[in-house]
Amino acid sequence: MNSSTKTQSLRILMFPWLGYGHITPYLELAKKLTTKGFFIYLCSTEATLSSIRTKIPPNLSNSIQTVSLPLEVSQDLPAESHTTNGLPPHLMVKLKEVFDNSAQSFSSILKQLKPDLLIFDFLQPWAPPLAEALNIPSVIFITSSSVMTSFMFHHFNHPEADFPYENIRFREYESRLMDELLANARDPKEREKGSAGVNMSREVVLIKGSREIEGRYIKYASGLTGKRFVPVGPLVQEPDDDQKSSSSELLSWLDQKEAKSTVFVSFGSEYFLSKEDMDGIAHGLLQSKANFIWVVRFPETEVVLEEKLPEGFLDKVGERGKMVQGWAPQTSILVHPNVGGFVSHCGWNSVMESFKFGVPIVAVPMHLDQPINARLVEEVGAGEEVLRDGDGRLNAEAVAAVINRVVVEDGVRAKVDEVKARLALMGDEEIDEVARELMSICSKLRS
Ligand code: UDX
Repeated sequence: MNSSTKTQSLRILMFPWLGYGHITPYLELAKKLTTKGFFIYLCSTEATLSSIRTKIPPNLSNSIQTVSLPLEVSQDLPAESHTTNGLPPHLMVKLKEVFDNSAQSFSSILKQLKPDLLIFDFLQPWAPPLAEALNIPSVIFITSSSVMTSFMFHHFNHPEADFPYENIRFREYESRLMDELLANARDPKEREKGSAGVNMSREVVLIKGSREIEGRYIKYASGLTGKRFVPVGPLVQEPDDDQKSSSSELLSWLDQKEAKSTVFVSFGSEYFLSKEDMDGIAHGLLQSKANFIWVVRFPETEVVLEEKLPEGFLDKVGERGKMVQGWAPQTSILVHPNVGGFVSHCGWNSVMESFKFGVPIVAVPMHLDQPINARLVEEVGAGEEVLRDGDGRLNAEAVAAVINRVVVEDGVRAKVDEVKARLALMGDEEIDEVARELMSICSKLRS
């Protein structure tokens, strides 16, 4: 351990859920908290940590330290946990099982690092009792949206009643995924008792988001649980120079396009598109009038792109589009003036990045929280969802029509600009409140 860490006043051990989309909000929170004098340990698998290490600014390397999971825990995790190429949602149950059975290993990390506070994801109910046994306070940090979180708590508390906000619903073909999500989110012990379940043993719950966007859902979640939900702000990664330089050809191509003429198409870090969705998106892009950058990812490492796309697709694209296999510098692309929209699965990080940088969303949600986030995007007025048919199939005409309305005709621009301006006005208000809460929690326990 670096000796300079001892000079900082409060040390926080952060334990995010695995995967890039989960650790990045923790890292952004960590960066903000270092500006308030906290020292941070960030604990995860080597694969997850390796995806963010270069994002720790050199001037913060003495204030944020990464900590790998103990070998006995990581060796029980499924193989996908040890790659940076996605962590499919169906592994959630297996991961949770490993974590739930690793109390001893986690306890030894706590004993060794002796943090003043533990911040953990709500899918890790083993955390508070361990911290308590060592007299260390702990706080949940939920990286999902408040709309999804309040929807979930509503479901736990009032399983028979509809969520009171009428536009926030799962569609018929999405309900199977909702059941899966809600079942996985529950604490197994609480599930047995049949009570409202995610482990919420603390008074304050941190949540990724802003009152400016989700004020009423934050209030609703607080009312349902009796806990104080404190938003940490959008926590968006700033466009980053390293990533940019590795994609200079792509960005030069974008420079040549007209202002707001290009749509960015990307579906996050975890999920791989089905063949049917690939076809719907590909034909939809060709039928639309927008230029595009499409990031495609596959579970296999060796892939011939042509074989995954509709026949002749790449020949038809010409100068209108760029395909990127694997990974693109999303935030650098979203802030580019020639980008006029984002075809997104509505992972919560992507939604917040769009709101923060003022990019209209063409919502194509896939699973888990994404459908509910997409409903919020429409409620906010910052985008439009592509409606699937009754069997959940993605229709190319529908994709093209929404891209044309949202991107080519710039149909939601006024609202998008308003949201961006409102978020910019918030400044550091929310993170200041979080820092005050955390200091107060630590000082209460010490006194
Ligand atoms: C996961 C879940 O799938 C999602 O439902 C949940 O809301 C958050 O956790 P993920 O699928 O990775 O997230 O999507 P998202 O939340 O949008 O996060 C992806 C992150 O990766 C974003 O910060 C995005 O900027 C970054 N990214 C993704 C890139 O920088 N380049 C890429 O090519 C793809």
